[in-house]
Amino acid sequence: MFPTTRPRRLRRTENLRRLVRETRLSAADLIYPLFVMPGSNVRREIPSLPGCFHLSPDQAAAEGRRLADLGLPGVLLFGLPESKDESGSEAWAETGVVPQAIRSLKRAAPDLLVLTDVCLCEYTSHGHCGLLDSRGEVDNDATLPLLARVAVSHAAAGADLVAPSDMMDGRVAALRSALDAAGHAQVGLMSYTAKYASAFYGPFREAADCAPQSGDRRGYQMDPANRREARREAAEDTAEGADILMVKPALAYLDILRDLAETSDLPLAAYNVSGEYAMVKAAAARGWLDERRVVLEILTSLRRAGADIIITYHAPDALGWLAESPPC
Ligand code: PBG
Repeated sequence: MFPTTRPRRLRRTENLRRLVRETRLSAADLIYPLFVMPGSNVRREIPSLPGCFHLSPDQAAAEGRRLADLGLPGVLLFGLPESKDESGSEAWAETGVVPQAIRSLKRAAPDLLVLTDVCLCEYTSHGHCGLLDSRGEVDNDATLPLLARVAVSHAAAGADLVAPSDMMDGRVAALRSALDAAGHAQVGLMSYTAKYASAFYGPFREAADCAPQSGDRRGYQMDPANRREARREAAEDTAEGADILMVKPALAYLDILRDLAETSDLPLAAYNVSGEYAMVKAAAARGWLDERRVVLEILTSLRRAGADIIITYHAPDALGWLAESPPC
């Protein structure tokens, strides 16, 4: 008891604080999302995600090379197709923009991990994550083989991990068996396990042009009010063969991250989503927040809550800051 005990003793100098720090953040924890679009030599800033760019495959490769040299372990690819249709068929085109970008990245930076988002919403004319049935509802079972084709097309182009973000039931098993049957047993699955129907995806939907044309995603993404259901999703994804689980969004869902960290032995990822990024950027641009300190505090807190891996639009800045000095 005080005055014998004095926790402040260990906070006195930076080296003392460093010695007793419980959580570490390093470049090795970060994954950077990239938005790839058709063409060449395209590098266009995304208005809703300042500091992030729409990139053609050649420019995505150059960005990947640059970030790999700064110590980034991997990127997560999202594609903006040339054209959309009812079933989202460009999503599994072998010559599609994502396979092109995978090949360019693998040539430019062979060791950089290439993860790909597997979903239909950027590719369907209606903007939903799966096929619509005659009542206009997303047809779970009819969507599974299409998602499997998308995953196989990414694996064939050289993806290291595929990441289904659609929230159909049974998609992890469907992807695993299709990948194995196509000879891609070594390609891993990072499942968007607890993906909530969140308003924090707003800036992304503008960036990826994937807002639903009618209705919303509450019929397949999780209800933000639910906690136990995330554990159930985690158990199902694990049984179906997921290699990595993910919680998304991150900041308003730290309790879910902590739950899954404690109840699962799989590596756990947190997706620090577009709205979380946009809030920090907007406040920093007005001088209301110290961007560097806030970003490193957020990323450290995601690690403390239980994330092994953090997918974040702040990755390029964070790599630079981490190379300069300790996080907090
Ligand atoms: C596609 C997908 C979305 C995000 C990742 N994959 C949008 C959505 O589900 O509406 C959001 C990412 C972000 O906000 O940063 N299904």
